[in-house]
Amino acid sequence: MNVYAPALAKAHPFEEQTSAFASDVLNGLSKHPKQLAPKYFYDAAGSELFEQITLLPEYYPTRTELGILRDHGADISAIVPKGSALVEFGAGATTKVRLLLETCAFGAYVPVDISGDFLKAQADALRKDFPGLAVYPVNADFTAAFTLPDAVAAMPKVGFFPGSTLGNFEPHEACAFLRSAREILGRNARMIIGVDLEKNERVLYEAYNDKAGVTARFNLNLLHRINRELGGNFDVSAFTHRAIYNRDRHRIEMYLISRKAQTVRVLGRTFSFRAGESIHTENSYKYSPERFAGLARGSGWIPSHCWSDAAGMFSVHALVASD
Ligand code: AVI
Repeated sequence: MNVYAPALAKAHPFEEQTSAFASDVLNGLSKHPKQLAPKYFYDAAGSELFEQITLLPEYYPTRTELGILRDHGADISAIVPKGSALVEFGAGATTKVRLLLETCAFGAYVPVDISGDFLKAQADALRKDFPGLAVYPVNADFTAAFTLPDAVAAMPKVGFFPGSTLGNFEPHEACAFLRSAREILGRNARMIIGVDLEKNERVLYEAYNDKAGVTARFNLNLLHRINRELGGNFDVSAFTHRAIYNRDRHRIEMYLISRKAQTVRVLGRTFSFRAGESIHTENSYKYSPERFAGLARGSGWIPSHCWSDAAGMFSVHALVASD
């Protein structure tokens, strides 16, 4: 499972997930306008495509966030109480957390992820590379309430939510997530969170319309996934990827556009498409530092620091739990 999939998928057993996928797809394709949830991008093929996206020259967020964590390691370390437990919401590729574990004096690491197998592999790798570190994986959906292991109960807590995955939540969902994290981490907790910044629209446009077409394949994979898992008969070549920046709503919007009038069958249901009709598949919200600070303040946190790269592309915020 890729680094972001846990953030967007739900913690349910396989059959339940499959049937949630089925009912969400049927509901989403029945809506006007049609829509599909971005959490369903991340099957094995989608996760692999997302990994490729993170390496694209146009897709700046991943490497920029890594640079900020590297450049401001000492500042971040200064706000981490010694012996804290680092709770990562949606554990994935370990590159970012390794940077924090190398620079800060954490007493324990608690990755929270819906994929048990993935968590175990990740925990084993980190135990090997950080022999003194106590690792307590929690197999749970972090967008809902979960309990931290007793072993970290007495430790100060620092939450970690990198990657601007928060941007894929609607603002009310982002607020609900921050509130829930505040409850789980408890009093005096800190939170380190990666948030993509508003910027030049051309830069944003290109990040979601890469020349190599990887983002298009990532988006279209959702239709392949419906064909694979739900017996759909989408002619994927009859759809095209579209990503635009909606300036008023501060978000990239991704769509799949039907190239022609057509009908598609999924699980015995027929869905008609007009030529040019869209399926809305993702929003990726961009925040100014001030707008994010406002969101955090309204969700149980006090913003304490905001670090950015020299070009102002991406931000990493430190928050302190409000009482
Ligand atoms: C996972 N998430 C933060 C990515 C983003 O930038 O919103 C997903 C993505 N969609 C298209 N490219 C990347």
